[in-house]
Amino acid sequence: MADTIDSLLAEMRTALRQADFEDPAQEARILVGGLLGLTPTKLMSRGGDVVAADKVALIRAGIARRLAREPLHRILGARDFYGLTLSLSPETLEPRPDTETLVEAMLPHVRATVARVGQCRILDLGTGTGAICLALLSAVAEAKGVGVDLSKDALSTASANAQAHGLSDRFRAVQSDWFEKIDGRYHIIVSNPPYIRSEIIDALDPEVRLFDPLLALDGGAEGLDAYRIIAARAAVFLEDEGVIGLEIGFDQKDSVTQIFRDEGFERTAFLRDLGGNDRVLVFRRADAGAARAMRTAAC
Ligand SMILES: C[S@@+](CC[C@H](N)C(=O)[O-])C[C@H]1O[C@@H](n2cnc3c(N)ncnc32)[C@H](O)[C@@H]1O
Repeated sequence: MADTIDSLLAEMRTALRQADFEDPAQEARILVGGLLGLTPTKLMSRGGDVVAADKVALIRAGIARRLAREPLHRILGARDFYGLTLSLSPETLEPRPDTETLVEAMLPHVRATVARVGQCRILDLGTGTGAICLALLSAVAEAKGVGVDLSKDALSTASANAQAHGLSDRFRAVQSDWFEKIDGRYHIIVSNPPYIRSEIIDALDPEVRLFDPLLALDGGAEGLDAYRIIAARAAVFLEDEGVIGLEIGFDQKDSVTQIFRDEGFERTAFLRDLGGNDRVLVFRRADAGAARAMRTAAC
């Protein structure tokens, strides 16, 4: 009997149910719909359509990969983030909805900078797919960004994503160990650095542990290595009135705040994600107010 959309959906639901996946029906719709390029509505209305043999093979291979715990969007090769469809590659983290909280937190600062000085230079440390920087650039036409990563594979994916969204003239990918190869000063520094404690990586879900790159996860013994490096050097690269926005682990608000206070920053905001976890901290230089007052007095 020929394979139809409905029969393939049922095949995947059954396979995932037998393997105790949480939401087999939803996963089947996303995978089959994604691989056939059909919206959820079309998927439902065309359930009786016969599927071509090459597509059937692709879907069956996708089911096998999912049973091996590969995340759905890695199988599909792309994930939506803040309205942008971003390609993924082996060395990019799959961008998470929680990270959209950082974009939301930084957008008013990007817009305010443009209103104040007519432009906004953004530095995204650990850019991965380019998610944070590209989301900000797509929302504010006057902004330009540099995406930094240690991974060449991530940087070529970020550049391809910039190209796909018509942002390549405002986005530059730089291979660097954090600030090592960076010069100039920026109005906005953003980062979602690796922040998982090394010792708990083995206990993470297989979807994360086996498929997200270790370089994107491992934050050292306390999960704080990258924050320490960024805090120690950020002032050199930040405009006087610039701000730094950081994603953090749910239990890192106090420790990351202290690290930045010790380096002369003050926290101006913290935000929770949609799940209610502490997720984003925003800092500026503690002497920013004094610097502004001195400049005003000098005018
Ligand atoms: C948690 S991922 C974030 C990716 C992306 N910004 C996002 O939010 O989806 C951390 C990123 O930092 C990069 N990274 C890790 N160590 C680095 C280093 N020493 N210098 C530059 N980037 C680094 C990783 O390759 C990874 O892309």
